[in-house]
Amino acid sequence: MTEGETGEAWTLSLCLCVLWFIFFFDWPGVPAPYDAPMSPDSAAAFIRAHTAPAAPPACPEVRLWMATAATPLWEATEAFLDRNNVPPPYWAFCWAGGQALTRYLLDHPELSAGKRVLDFAAGCGASAMAAALNGAATVEAAEIDPVAIAAIALNADLNGVVVGAVAGDIVGCANRWDVVVAGDVCYERPMTEHIWPWLKRLAAEGATVLMADPGRAYLPKHGLLEVARMTVATSLDLEDRSEREVVVYRIVG
Ligand SMILES: C[S@@+](CC[C@H](N)C(=O)[O-])C[C@H]1O[C@@H](n2cnc3c(N)ncnc32)[C@H](O)[C@@H]1O
Repeated sequence: MTEGETGEAWTLSLCLCVLWFIFFFDWPGVPAPYDAPMSPDSAAAFIRAHTAPAAPPACPEVRLWMATAATPLWEATEAFLDRNNVPPPYWAFCWAGGQALTRYLLDHPELSAGKRVLDFAAGCGASAMAAALNGAATVEAAEIDPVAIAAIALNADLNGVVVGAVAGDIVGCANRWDVVVAGDVCYERPMTEHIWPWLKRLAAEGATVLMADPGRAYLPKHGLLEVARMTVATSLDLEDRSEREVVVYRIVG
């Protein structure tokens, strides 16, 4: 190696060290960057630094740590996502389906009071909060995104309720719930194909399985019974319009 090449190698190593420190070092007192994997503490610090307590328009009874100015968070995280392959911050918003489902649960407390409830693909966990506020016997909120798991814990604290955040993909596991709710989960074909047979099985085994959908492309065409329909306000940063009509369905045979 020539002297010049050795110098270049040192410079490159130094740059890599500096980049590693910028993105992956847990600087004391500074909210950790959105990286993967994130410790629960740094995820909570990241959420507090980038969101604020607020109420979704359709279900103001529930308070959540939400992105107030959606675009900067989404873009910042998307930029990091491109580099590090981490999921976008779905947890920082209550999606149209989640808002409608949460509204429906709050308006029909008898559905979840005293019941074992699962909020599947919970994101921020708004529907889990509603079930807990209604007096459910137990509430679980399942998420594959570890930052969402931290958001669900913070949101439970904010609402003064107990919600068990279940990390990982529980699709396929045996039924232990009376009520399963899933808001806005049919936006991608692979996800829908993955979760639909399991949700149908839970319904066939006796659980009340509710889905709320604002017209996403991959909503199954059969096996759904409409139980409610409402218009909810949405963020223009997330959707191509400021409100969406959402249908709440129950899975039937
Ligand atoms: C569009 S968001 C909807 C969140 C929430 N239900 C709502 O309506 O506000 C979809 C969520 O599904 C989660 N997700 C995707 N696949 C999942 C799986 N197999 N198990 C649990 N969560 C999943 C994603 O991480 C994301 O937070």
